[in-house]
Amino acid sequence: MAAGLGVVLNGLSSCASMPVYKAVDEQGALMIPVSSFAAANTLVVRNAKLEYDILLVKKNEQEFHALYMMCTHQDNPLTATSTGLFCASHGSSFDLEGRVTKAPANKPLRTFPAQRINDFIKINIQS
Ligand code: FES
Repeated sequence: MAAGLGVVLNGLSSCASMPVYKAVDEQGALMIPVSSFAAANTLVVRNAKLEYDILLVKKNEQEFHALYMMCTHQDNPLTATSTGLFCASHGSSFDLEGRVTKAPANKPLRTFPAQRINDFIKINIQS
């Protein structure tokens, strides 16, 4: 199995303090090693097929949210923190489940199905 060919990078793009995992697309799915989370509960996942990053949120050992980091107001990139996401363009913010916590955005973030399979989290980016 070719899973785990991605790379954890630090200090990239708008998420300077959050680790970035460069994931390889495996037939429409990204496989993220659980160990990539280290001590944090959030991880930025990057893949060349996606215009924006995904924020992978660890709710517990079995539950994960994969949030597309594109603002639902006017499609601008979001900045992730350990407690939520915000948009520098017009000030919208979202919680770690993708719900709007501050307008002008009024729609939740797009999400991708994410499930744990042994030591990996599989994100389906085809849905
Ligand atoms: S594009 Fe994000 S608040 Fe307007």
